[in-house]
Amino acid sequence: GVIEIPVVVNVLYKTTAQNVSQAQIQSQIDALNKDYNATNTDFGSVPALFSGVKANVGIRFVLDAVYRKSTTKTSWRLDDSMKKSTKGGINPTRPTTKLNLWFCNLTSGYLGYAQFPGGASATDGVVIDDNAFGTTGTAAAPFNKGRTATHEVGHWMNLRHIWGDATCGTDYVNDTPSHNTANYGCPSYPHYSTCSGTPVEMTMNYMDYTDDACMYMFSSGQKDRMLAIFSTGGARATFAQP
Ligand code: ARG
Ligand code: CA
Ligand code: ZN
Repeated sequence: GVIEIPVVVNVLYKTTAQNVSQAQIQSQIDALNKDYNATNTDFGSVPALFSGVKANVGIRFVLDAVYRKSTTKTSWRLDDSMKKSTKGGINPTRPTTKLNLWFCNLTSGYLGYAQFPGGASATDGVVIDDNAFGTTGTAAAPFNKGRTATHEVGHWMNLRHIWGDATCGTDYVNDTPSHNTANYGCPSYPHYSTCSGTPVEMTMNYMDYTDDACMYMFSSGQKDRMLAIFSTGGARATFAQP
Protein backbone atom coordinates (compact mmCIF):
# COMPACT_ATOMS: atom_id res chain seq x y z
CA GLY A 1 0.00 0.00 0.00
CA VAL A 2 0.87 3.67 0.11
CA ILE A 3 3.20 4.77 2.93
CA GLU A 4 1.61 7.52 5.03
CA ILE A 5 3.91 10.05 6.72
CA PRO A 6 2.62 12.35 9.49
CA VAL A 7 4.12 15.82 9.10
CA VAL A 8 4.86 18.26 11.93
CA VAL A 9 5.43 21.85 10.82
CA ASN A 10 7.55 24.07 13.10
CA VAL A 11 7.12 27.76 12.31
CA LEU A 12 9.68 30.33 13.49
CA TYR A 13 8.46 33.85 12.78
CA LYS A 14 9.78 37.36 13.31
CA THR A 15 7.33 39.23 11.09
CA THR A 16 3.57 38.69 11.09
CA ALA A 17 3.78 37.52 7.46
CA GLN A 18 6.18 34.78 8.60
CA ASN A 19 3.56 33.53 11.05
CA VAL A 20 2.17 31.66 8.05
CA SER A 21 -1.46 30.82 7.56
CA GLN A 22 -2.86 27.33 7.88
CA ALA A 23 -3.70 27.63 4.17
CA GLN A 24 -0.04 28.19 3.26
CA ILE A 25 0.99 25.21 5.38
CA GLN A 26 -1.67 23.03 3.74
CA SER A 27 -0.50 24.25 0.30
CA GLN A 28 2.90 22.74 1.06
CA ILE A 29 1.39 19.42 2.17
CA ASP A 30 -0.77 19.39 -0.99
CA ALA A 31 2.26 20.04 -3.22
CA LEU A 32 4.15 17.15 -1.59
CA ASN A 33 1.18 14.85 -2.10
CA LYS A 34 0.90 15.76 -5.77
CA ASP A 35 4.60 15.40 -6.49
CA TYR A 36 4.97 12.08 -4.61
CA ASN A 37 1.83 10.58 -6.18
CA ALA A 38 2.32 11.70 -9.79
CA THR A 39 -0.79 13.89 -9.63
CA ASN A 40 1.16 17.11 -10.26
CA THR A 41 -0.40 18.90 -13.24
CA ASP A 42 2.93 19.00 -15.08
CA PHE A 43 3.66 15.26 -14.80
CA GLY A 44 2.44 14.94 -18.38
CA SER A 45 5.17 17.36 -19.51
CA VAL A 46 7.87 14.73 -18.94
CA PRO A 47 9.52 14.19 -22.36
CA ALA A 48 8.79 10.91 -24.17
CA LEU A 49 12.45 9.96 -23.72
CA PHE A 50 11.82 9.59 -19.97
CA SER A 51 8.19 8.43 -19.98
CA GLY A 52 9.29 4.84 -19.32
CA VAL A 53 11.04 5.77 -16.08
CA LYS A 54 8.84 8.53 -14.63
CA ALA A 55 7.46 7.27 -11.33
CA ASN A 56 4.53 7.46 -8.97
CA VAL A 57 6.42 7.17 -5.68
CA GLY A 58 3.25 6.48 -3.69
CA ILE A 59 3.95 8.24 -0.40
CA ARG A 60 1.19 10.25 1.29
CA PHE A 61 1.82 13.17 3.65
CA VAL A 62 -0.68 14.05 6.37
CA LEU A 63 -0.47 17.24 8.42
CA ASP A 64 -0.19 16.13 12.03
CA ALA A 65 0.53 19.31 14.04
CA VAL A 66 1.80 22.86 13.72
CA TYR A 67 4.02 24.50 16.35
CA ARG A 68 4.72 28.22 16.25
CA LYS A 69 7.31 30.33 18.02
CA SER A 70 8.20 33.98 17.66
CA THR A 71 11.87 34.85 17.35
CA THR A 72 14.05 37.95 17.38
CA LYS A 73 16.38 36.32 14.84
CA THR A 74 16.14 37.87 11.38
CA SER A 75 17.72 34.86 9.67
CA TRP A 76 19.00 31.39 10.51
CA ARG A 77 22.22 29.68 9.50
CA LEU A 78 22.37 26.06 8.37
CA ASP A 79 23.63 24.94 11.79
CA ASP A 80 20.48 23.21 13.13
CA SER A 81 19.81 25.97 15.69
CA MET A 82 16.20 26.19 14.46
CA LYS A 83 15.80 22.60 15.72
CA LYS A 84 16.91 23.43 19.29
CA SER A 85 14.79 25.24 21.85
CA THR A 86 17.99 26.13 23.73
CA LYS A 87 19.03 28.14 20.66
CA GLY A 88 15.68 29.83 20.11
CA GLY A 89 14.33 27.11 17.84
CA ILE A 90 11.76 24.34 18.25
CA ASN A 91 12.74 20.76 19.13
CA PRO A 92 11.42 18.08 16.73
CA THR A 93 8.31 16.14 17.75
CA ARG A 94 8.64 12.31 17.65
CA PRO A 95 11.18 12.34 14.79
CA THR A 96 11.28 8.55 14.50
CA THR A 97 7.62 8.43 13.45
CA LYS A 98 6.96 11.93 12.07
CA LEU A 99 8.60 14.07 9.42
CA ASN A 100 9.47 17.41 11.01
CA LEU A 101 9.57 20.47 8.74
CA TRP A 102 10.94 23.79 9.96
CA PHE A 103 9.79 27.05 8.37
CA CYS A 104 12.19 29.95 8.96
CA ASN A 105 14.10 32.65 7.13
CA LEU A 106 17.35 30.97 6.10
CA THR A 107 20.45 33.04 5.57
CA SER A 108 20.56 34.62 2.11
CA GLY A 109 20.66 32.31 -0.89
CA TYR A 110 19.48 29.11 0.79
CA LEU A 111 16.13 27.56 -0.04
CA GLY A 112 16.31 24.59 2.27
CA TYR A 113 18.36 21.73 3.67
CA ALA A 114 17.69 18.21 4.87
CA GLN A 115 19.16 15.52 7.07
CA PHE A 116 19.83 12.20 5.34
CA PRO A 117 18.63 8.91 6.89
CA GLY A 118 20.88 7.58 9.64
CA GLY A 119 21.57 10.89 11.42
CA ALA A 120 20.75 11.98 14.96
CA SER A 121 17.02 12.00 15.83
CA ALA A 122 17.35 15.35 17.60
CA THR A 123 18.13 17.09 14.32
CA ASP A 124 16.14 14.91 11.92
CA GLY A 125 13.91 16.59 9.37
CA VAL A 126 13.85 19.26 6.70
CA VAL A 127 14.27 23.04 6.87
CA ILE A 128 12.58 25.29 4.29
CA ASP A 129 13.14 29.01 3.75
CA ASP A 130 10.12 31.26 4.35
CA ASN A 131 10.15 32.36 0.71
CA ALA A 132 10.22 28.80 -0.68
CA PHE A 133 7.52 27.16 1.45
CA GLY A 134 4.15 26.22 -0.04
CA THR A 135 2.48 27.91 -2.97
CA THR A 136 0.89 31.03 -1.44
CA GLY A 137 1.63 33.77 1.12
CA THR A 138 5.37 34.25 1.67
CA ALA A 139 6.30 31.87 -1.18
CA ALA A 140 8.03 33.79 -3.96
CA ALA A 141 8.66 32.95 -7.63
CA PRO A 142 10.49 31.07 -9.03
CA PHE A 143 10.34 28.86 -5.91
CA ASN A 144 6.62 29.03 -5.19
CA LYS A 145 5.41 25.59 -6.23
CA GLY A 146 6.42 23.86 -3.02
CA ARG A 147 9.24 21.98 -4.71
CA THR A 148 11.99 22.94 -2.35
CA ALA A 149 10.25 20.60 0.11
CA THR A 150 9.81 17.97 -2.62
CA HIS A 151 13.58 18.14 -3.24
CA GLU A 152 14.56 18.23 0.44
CA VAL A 153 12.22 15.39 1.39
CA GLY A 154 13.92 13.47 -1.45
CA HIS A 155 17.23 13.93 0.43
CA TRP A 156 15.50 12.97 3.70
CA MET A 157 14.50 9.75 1.89
CA ASN A 158 18.12 9.13 0.82
CA LEU A 159 18.21 10.69 -2.67
CA ARG A 160 21.36 12.41 -3.87
CA HIS A 161 21.57 15.29 -6.30
CA ILE A 162 21.16 14.02 -9.84
CA TRP A 163 24.69 15.21 -10.78
CA GLY A 164 26.19 13.42 -7.76
CA ASP A 165 27.75 16.63 -6.40
CA ALA A 166 30.70 16.18 -8.74
CA THR A 167 31.38 16.61 -12.45
CA CYS A 168 29.52 13.65 -14.02
CA GLY A 169 29.18 12.20 -10.50
CA THR A 170 26.79 9.46 -9.43
CA ASP A 171 23.47 9.61 -7.61
CA TYR A 172 23.51 5.80 -7.15
CA VAL A 173 20.36 5.51 -9.28
CA ASN A 174 20.77 3.75 -12.61
CA ASP A 175 17.83 5.11 -14.60
CA THR A 176 18.86 8.75 -14.22
CA PRO A 177 21.39 10.03 -16.81
CA SER A 178 24.80 11.41 -15.82
CA HIS A 179 24.69 15.16 -15.48
CA ASN A 180 27.68 17.35 -16.04
CA THR A 181 26.74 19.53 -13.08
CA ALA A 182 23.69 21.22 -11.50
CA ASN A 183 21.21 22.93 -13.83
CA TYR A 184 19.51 26.20 -12.87
CA GLY A 185 16.60 28.21 -14.19
CA CYS A 186 14.58 26.47 -16.86
CA PRO A 187 16.83 24.70 -19.39
CA SER A 188 15.49 24.17 -22.89
CA TYR A 189 14.99 20.55 -23.97
CA PRO A 190 17.03 18.61 -24.91
CA HIS A 191 19.98 19.63 -22.78
CA TYR A 192 22.94 17.34 -23.49
CA SER A 193 25.37 16.14 -20.88
CA THR A 194 29.10 16.37 -21.49
CA CYS A 195 29.54 13.09 -19.59
CA SER A 196 30.33 9.70 -21.13
CA GLY A 197 27.84 8.91 -23.91
CA THR A 198 26.55 12.52 -23.88
CA PRO A 199 23.06 11.54 -22.67
CA VAL A 200 20.16 13.99 -22.57
CA GLU A 201 20.01 15.32 -19.01
CA MET A 202 16.88 14.83 -16.91
CA THR A 203 16.72 18.52 -15.98
CA MET A 204 13.07 18.17 -14.98
CA ASN A 205 13.98 15.81 -12.12
CA TYR A 206 13.21 17.08 -8.61
CA MET A 207 16.80 16.34 -7.57
CA ASP A 208 18.30 18.87 -9.98
CA TYR A 209 18.51 22.60 -9.11
CA THR A 210 16.11 23.97 -11.74
CA ASP A 211 13.24 26.36 -10.93
CA ASP A 212 10.08 24.95 -9.34
CA ALA A 213 8.14 25.26 -12.62
CA CYS A 214 10.81 23.24 -14.44
CA MET A 215 11.08 20.17 -12.17
CA TYR A 216 8.24 17.63 -12.22
CA MET A 217 9.40 14.02 -11.92
CA PHE A 218 11.13 11.32 -9.90
CA SER A 219 12.42 8.19 -11.69
CA SER A 220 11.60 4.56 -10.89
CA GLY A 221 15.14 4.03 -9.60
CA GLN A 222 14.74 7.00 -7.26
CA LYS A 223 11.41 5.56 -6.07
CA ASP A 224 13.10 2.22 -5.28
CA ARG A 225 15.89 3.99 -3.41
CA MET A 226 13.36 5.98 -1.34
CA LEU A 227 11.08 3.04 -0.54
CA ALA A 228 14.08 0.91 0.54
CA ILE A 229 14.67 3.02 3.65
CA PHE A 230 11.14 2.27 4.89
CA SER A 231 11.49 -1.51 4.57
CA THR A 232 12.58 -3.84 7.39
CA GLY A 233 16.14 -2.95 8.37
CA GLY A 234 15.94 0.40 6.56
CA ALA A 235 16.97 3.64 8.28
CA ARG A 236 13.34 4.85 8.42
CA ALA A 237 11.62 1.50 9.03
CA THR A 238 10.00 3.06 12.14
CA PHE A 239 7.74 5.00 9.75
CA ALA A 240 6.39 1.93 7.99
CA GLN A 241 2.70 1.19 8.40
CA PRO A 242 1.67 -2.08 10.08
N1 ARG B 1 19.50 24.22 -2.94
C1 ARG B 1 18.66 23.36 -2.21
C2 ARG B 1 19.34 22.02 -1.86
O1 ARG B 1 20.41 21.71 -2.30
C3 ARG B 1 17.29 23.15 -2.80
C4 ARG B 1 17.03 23.48 -4.22
C5 ARG B 1 15.55 23.39 -4.50
N2 ARG B 1 15.20 23.81 -5.83
C6 ARG B 1 13.99 24.31 -6.15
N3 ARG B 1 13.67 24.58 -7.39
N4 ARG B 1 13.07 24.52 -5.24
O2 ARG B 1 18.89 21.17 -1.13
CA1 CA C 1 13.97 34.05 2.95
ZN1 ZN D 1 19.62 19.33 -2.53
